[in-house]
Amino acid sequence: GRPRDLAGRKIVVSAGGTREAIDPVRYIGNRSSGLQGYALARTAVARGAEVTLVAANVVLPDPAGASVVRVESAAQLREAVLAASDGADVVVMAAAVADFRPATRHDAKIKKSDAEPEPIHLTKNPDILAELGERRRQAGDAVLPASDPGLGVRDAGDARPGRGAYPLVIVGFAAETHDVLANGQAKLARKGCDLLVVNRVGEGLVFGTPDNAATVLVAGGEPVDVPLGPKEDVADTVWDLVAARLG
Ligand code: C5P
Repeated sequence: GRPRDLAGRKIVVSAGGTREAIDPVRYIGNRSSGLQGYALARTAVARGAEVTLVAANVVLPDPAGASVVRVESAAQLREAVLAASDGADVVVMAAAVADFRPATRHDAKIKKSDAEPEPIHLTKNPDILAELGERRRQAGDAVLPASDPGLGVRDAGDARPGRGAYPLVIVGFAAETHDVLANGQAKLARKGCDLLVVNRVGEGLVFGTPDNAATVLVAGGEPVDVPLGPKEDVADTVWDLVAARLG
């Protein structure tokens, strides 16, 4: 059995992959299955947490005991995650959020003709993970002592551990193929999160498979390797580290 070390904690997990509409029938999407996010939600429930799962286009059955909010686009995922994050202890962004969306969404289905097709212009989506980190930073609080690097603490006077700065722990995901540690540490700092789960994508398939190999980067701490295995193993390692940070 798992420890009940997340009992009473409010946890938000995003899962799956967003779809960005081109017209009423077409979209730009990605191959994320939602399996890792669902494994996170299931294991968090098993460890006693109150879990809100924000699921983008996932075809898996709802995990028992989690409350599930279904979304399609990055904009909808952002609204749902920010709403659920209010007063949450932990947010884990496991969803593959589209970096770009079509600048205009056609109201009618685009017709094919003999002419060359129109190009699809893209515009940037907001970075939800970075926004969560920034909001917490602006709340002027820090979870870690000011001496810990990587959390964006502006100076020692800003460090007021855990008081009113929600979410207390922010976890991101990243897929890196090379220089995993260096690229990952830079991303961890840039996004202002506490943990960054780096999928080692070179070692085999990750998307749509039940197995995963990862390194969890820890702000102000040593990275933790999770050997190739079920996505529950990555999830439990994340929850071990989250529980330790929540104290
Ligand atoms: O920058 P990159 O896409 O590699 O970062 C991945 C992490 O950032 C994931 O945790 C993902 O959920 C999150 N993300 C986000 N909003 C975006 C793009 C990525 O929250 N627009």
